[in-house]
Amino acid sequence: MAHVLIIGAGGVGRVVTHKCVMNKETFTKITLASRRLSSCETIAKELPSDAVNIAQVDADNTDELADLITKIGAQLVINVALPYQDLTIMDACLKTNTPYLDTANYEHPDEAKFEYKEQWAKHEAFKEKGLLALLGSGFDPGVTNVFCAYAQKHYFDEIHTIDILDCNAGDHGYAFATNFNPEINLREVSANGRYWEEGKWIETKPMEIKMVWDYPEVGPKDSYLLYHEEMESLVKHIKGLKRIRFFMTFGESYLTHMKCLENVGMLGIKEVEHKGQKIVPMEFLRTLLPDPATLGPRTKGLTNIGIVAEGIKDGQKKKIYIYQVSDHEKCYAEVKSQGVSYTTGVPAMIGAKLMIEGKWSAKGVFNMEEFDPDIFMDELNKQGLPWQIKELD
Ligand SMILES: NC(=O)c1ccc[n+]([C@@H]2O[C@H](COP(=O)([O-])OP(=O)(O)OC[C@H]3O[C@@H](n4cnc5c(N)ncnc54)[C@H](OP(=O)(O)O)[C@@H]3O)[C@@H](O)[C@H]2O)c1
Repeated sequence: MAHVLIIGAGGVGRVVTHKCVMNKETFTKITLASRRLSSCETIAKELPSDAVNIAQVDADNTDELADLITKIGAQLVINVALPYQDLTIMDACLKTNTPYLDTANYEHPDEAKFEYKEQWAKHEAFKEKGLLALLGSGFDPGVTNVFCAYAQKHYFDEIHTIDILDCNAGDHGYAFATNFNPEINLREVSANGRYWEEGKWIETKPMEIKMVWDYPEVGPKDSYLLYHEEMESLVKHIKGLKRIRFFMTFGESYLTHMKCLENVGMLGIKEVEHKGQKIVPMEFLRTLLPDPATLGPRTKGLTNIGIVAEGIKDGQKKKIYIYQVSDHEKCYAEVKSQGVSYTTGVPAMIGAKLMIEGKWSAKGVFNMEEFDPDIFMDELNKQGLPWQIKELD
């Protein structure tokens, strides 16, 4: 039904491309474009020869991207490049009257800070053009927002607290590697934590707050409070909310490596002089670390991401846990990617599918929890991310 342009031939881009090909009745034409054509070629070779067209594009350049969108006649852009490109890609969509979808909010390359402000500021522009920009259609953000909307719709009159719990119990066999883009990942976990309570953001030191959560099928794991972007939109859209927090699991070894790298300055994002050349330590570290796209065949174990919501239904207290478990090896067998890319790429494809089919439609810039969660939840079950709900005491 539509020609989709996928931008970014990385770990997540691979999954989105495979999944769009598996849903070719919706994605009748697929173009995968990236900074390097070779990244697109690698993915295209994994698929039937006529399944995907490929193109080279620098998505930092709005005009270059707009030319590509116009030339190929793309009807929807899925942005799975890096968060640094969100604004230029949104601008190219505005310039060419094309709907937009992404999985991560805008981050400035020179500042370890991410927020929706600049993307939300484009609401009126998208609205005037009658276009939808769907933000954060990955797993977290993404599915976690949909879980919250589903809990609100079916289980509560008022939700008072939400804990988002993200566990990756996968083992890739390396002493240290990140499961998605190292720069984005390390910037996120080395930053101060933050949670929202009674209308205020409360800042914590990195890894200051820890709890142990017993993840079904994985077992008890140390889970640390981090700031995560979906909280920024959920505090606006979940009624009666008094507190929201985000926790992610980390092993001892990962945290020790990260602390060491931080202590010696390797997580720095400002240029330093080295033998007459300017380098950014974090970028250099990225060169040294294993490419997340190569972790797929080595990673074993499960991911388990979900939300615990507590509140009131018909005057009674209620607490539920909605979660999804994925197996890294099964993900690799299906689309040649490990579970973290898989759990991000599948919801990106689903969001795009609902947009193309007109099942999620609106004019302006929207977050996931603003749409009817039921159709998205059905698609998760059909497209490889089955979920479960438990009522807790
Ligand atoms: N919501 C979630 O649950 C979630 C979870 C994980 C990741 N994410 C997000 O998903 C996105 C992709 O992550 P990933 O792990 O796939 O990262 P990745 O493996 O590093 O892939 C990013 C791709 O973007 C391409 N790219 C970078 N700059 C570009 C530019 N200027 N123009 C065109 N292409 C460019 C790179 O291209 P080349 O290879 O061609 O150089 C690379 O292939 C990121 O935004 C990440 O934050 C979201």
